[in-house]
Amino acid sequence: MSETLNLDWGKLPFGYIKTDYNVRCYYRSGKWGELEISSSERIDLHMASISLHYGQQAFEGMKAFMGKDGKIRLFRWEENCKRMQSSADGILMPQVPEELFHEAILKAIKLNKKYVPPYASGASLYLRPLLFGSGYGVGVKPADEYMFIVFVTPVGPYFKEGFKPVNMLLVHNFDRAAPLGTGNIKVGGNYAAGLKAMKVAKELGCANVIFLDSKEKKYIDECGPANFFGIKNNTYITPESPSILPSITNKSLEIIAKHLGYKVERRKVPLEELETFEEVGACGTAAVISPIGKIIDYETKKEFVYSKDGNPGKISTELYNALIAVQTGDKPDEFGWVEFVD
Ligand code: PLP
Ligand code: COI
Repeated sequence: MSETLNLDWGKLPFGYIKTDYNVRCYYRSGKWGELEISSSERIDLHMASISLHYGQQAFEGMKAFMGKDGKIRLFRWEENCKRMQSSADGILMPQVPEELFHEAILKAIKLNKKYVPPYASGASLYLRPLLFGSGYGVGVKPADEYMFIVFVTPVGPYFKEGFKPVNMLLVHNFDRAAPLGTGNIKVGGNYAAGLKAMKVAKELGCANVIFLDSKEKKYIDECGPANFFGIKNNTYITPESPSILPSITNKSLEIIAKHLGYKVERRKVPLEELETFEEVGACGTAAVISPIGKIIDYETKKEFVYSKDGNPGKISTELYNALIAVQTGDKPDEFGWVEFVD
């Protein structure tokens, strides 16, 4: 019998809860070593490590779900692996090979099985792979040693509202990333760059920010921790931009939307188009779909209201249900997105 935990699964925030083990691997002298299992939450890092000073680090986020059948399902890990490889390329770190990535995430889940939240609790097991330059130096250069860690933690919804509309602040005077910068890879610096804007948003009662393209300030880019989508005329529309993170959730929703008979457009989304959407939302692994009830433009103070009754829109709800159904196994996995972990 597997051990069960006495956690209030339905009330879990998107936070950190200690689990039993994490897995680690070092890259030294040009090659990856053996995967190690650790029960420590600490790492021993040189104070002059390149990751601490010059931000040479990247991370990923994916989820595993407990199905009604008692089987653990891992969602689209290959895509996260590819994205971490692209992040590594972007800031000159060695790629984590697919086999190593796969072995590490499976081990991290299996060693912490009792932390996988129960079926239909609204919570899931969040996996956080992390790659960083552990080698040291004071000159700006790529590190000569790297560490790859995967830890897991059970999480609830990213926005405390769950699947309920939130307010978002549209900012003109902050940029998260530059068009030819690192916005399209998942590196920590992008998130540091967004912290001030997020603070302003929170002060104004918004859950997070929406950034505009940093070159022309004419188009919607993405939200702090999630991609943006708008829906009108039975069409799912999501921004094309060189500075946004290619979201695996967004790509999945595009496929689901088509499958449900909606049109899908990935293209530039001009600011003026906000007036015309019937529904808008933020999407990502952590956010899943976070319906946006209202967007407040920080500069013009203009408000765009999408939910008058405090409920998510019809198509957002349909997309959300369809995505969750695949992830938890309520519907057959027609897309080949799920791997069982035993
Ligand atoms: N955009 C940003 C900036 C993110 O941090 C995330 C989260 O990973 C996303 C979008 C959504 O990506 P995904 O759906 O792959 O989690
Ligand atoms: C995710 O959705 O996995 C993210 O990484 C978003 C956020 C927690 C940074």
